[in-house]
Amino acid sequence: MRISKMLIVFLVIALSASLALPAFAQDGAATYKAKCASCHGPEGQGKIGPALKGTSLTADQIGDLLTKGNDAKKAPHKKALASVSADDAKAVATFVKTLK
Ligand code: HEC
Repeated sequence: MRISKMLIVFLVIALSASLALPAFAQDGAATYKAKCASCHGPEGQGKIGPALKGTSLTADQIGDLLTKGNDAKKAPHKKALASVSADDAKAVATFVKTLK
């Protein structure tokens, strides 16, 4: 009896851990859709802003641009995007790197 209970607890933990990963990836996609797609296009093909698909920037560089801004860039990236948290920036940068 005790062993089967432990097994169930273990399975529940393993299941929720495996579900957590895709949820993280989805956050990046959702943030992109809500906060980037209007300027960079839903597929990253570019619109008001340049195309992001196939960008040569690394995920870290994209995350930094979003959380710190870059004085050499035009609006809105001169300054950090206030609506994007550090965690969102990381997730969305990872998502941008999946656009091809
Ligand atoms: C209001 C429009 C707008 C929004 C919203 C916006 N961007 Fe941009 N983005 C731009 C423009 C314009 C540039 C070009 C700036 C420049 O080169 O000076 C740019 C440049 C970039 C670059 C640099 C591209 C390169 O090749 O140098 C990245 C990366 C980027 N944006 C990512 C994002 C992400 C991710 C989001 C969402 C969190 C986002 N942007 C939201 C307009 C926008």
